[in-house]
Amino acid sequence: MRVKKKNRARKISIFLVSMLVIIGIGCVVIYKFSDNLKMQAVLNRSEYSASDLDKQYGSINQNKYYQGKSAYIIYSPKTENEQFNQTITSITDSIIADFDSKAPHQDVDVLFVDYGIKTTDSKYLNLDFIINMQFGDQKETKQQHYCLNGVSGELLTLKDVCRADYTQKLKLFAKRDLELEDDIEIADDYNSFALDSENLTIYFSDEQVVTVPLKYIPELIDYPKIDYNKPMIALTFDDGPNKKQTTRLLDCLEKYDARVTFFLLGSNISGKEDIVLRAHLLGNEIASHTYNHKMLTKLSPENLKYEIEQTDKEIEDIIGTKPKLIRPPYGSKNQDVYDAAGRPIVLWSIDTEDWKTRSASATVQSVMDNAADGEISLMHDIHSFSVDAAIELIPKLIDEGYQLVTVSELAYYKGIELENKAYYRIK
Ligand code: NI
Repeated sequence: MRVKKKNRARKISIFLVSMLVIIGIGCVVIYKFSDNLKMQAVLNRSEYSASDLDKQYGSINQNKYYQGKSAYIIYSPKTENEQFNQTITSITDSIIADFDSKAPHQDVDVLFVDYGIKTTDSKYLNLDFIINMQFGDQKETKQQHYCLNGVSGELLTLKDVCRADYTQKLKLFAKRDLELEDDIEIADDYNSFALDSENLTIYFSDEQVVTVPLKYIPELIDYPKIDYNKPMIALTFDDGPNKKQTTRLLDCLEKYDARVTFFLLGSNISGKEDIVLRAHLLGNEIASHTYNHKMLTKLSPENLKYEIEQTDKEIEDIIGTKPKLIRPPYGSKNQDVYDAAGRPIVLWSIDTEDWKTRSASATVQSVMDNAADGEISLMHDIHSFSVDAAIELIPKLIDEGYQLVTVSELAYYKGIELENKAYYRIK
């Protein structure tokens, strides 16, 4: 009997222990299950549906999952192009890594990523990611902007879309438009920007956004669009700047989206810095006509050096770069001048002799009679009659199919790399 009782007691205790274990496992399973249900419910919340931002390009890739107490709802574009998909994956991976590094893992954390993608021509794709991070009750929203090559699917940097010497000008636009005291730094590989048919938009932060009309940045590789089959002409203006006349000319250039080259006299710049900056930011070329309008071939080496360097300095102080072209007064040059200049010497092929005729109509006639692809005309924006002529000429030339470009642009579009020698025309 005693043995039997003992057995019975043992059986009961085994049964009880087993029940406890089963109940325990059950609890864990139910707990886990309800946790999963809870996370599943988070993923399916309507507030985390894709927005109606432009998603016309490619298809919408929806990636919803959870890991522990973190929920991820990520919408991104997807195409047939593997490189494009890889670019997108590397961006979303970095967004996820950023979220994971911030998530406190105490309550439910949510990463919700939405996007918009636009293309003006298939060459550039502008992609905006809207990133919502929710840590418990705390919400954080930010945007990230990218520009992709529409053909290759690669991420683009500013260096990829602009020619050399562009950052300095973009910095000047940023400083002016954001009303900054100090210069802003823009790295060569900066990639937070958008490019459409009208503007280059640079995103420094969600609040600091600078939009520059493309027509003012001829340094952009594809814009403004030049028709290689149409003639180009470079109008150049010497001896300025002049407060009244240069301003009248700039108003006209701005109106017609035309660009010219100014060969500035260094000694004329002081007090007119704003005019020089305006000319530069309108896409015109700022070049050097040396400092005191001296006959360079008659100067001592020291004086020759001063004429060039002092003008370089005056111009660099305003636009951040030295002028790339020099036109010696009276077109006088010799080997010493070439050596001291150390850059291309630009002369002219159409001499309007505006200073001699002092007649707007004769000046207009002179340019119209000699206009041809690749020619460089010479006028002076210090005389009212010359600027009167320019104001009449500019729409006239455009009507005749001419594209008004700067001298450096003319060389670029003609595929000519300018050297340390004299140029009269570029074709
Ligand atoms: Ni001159």
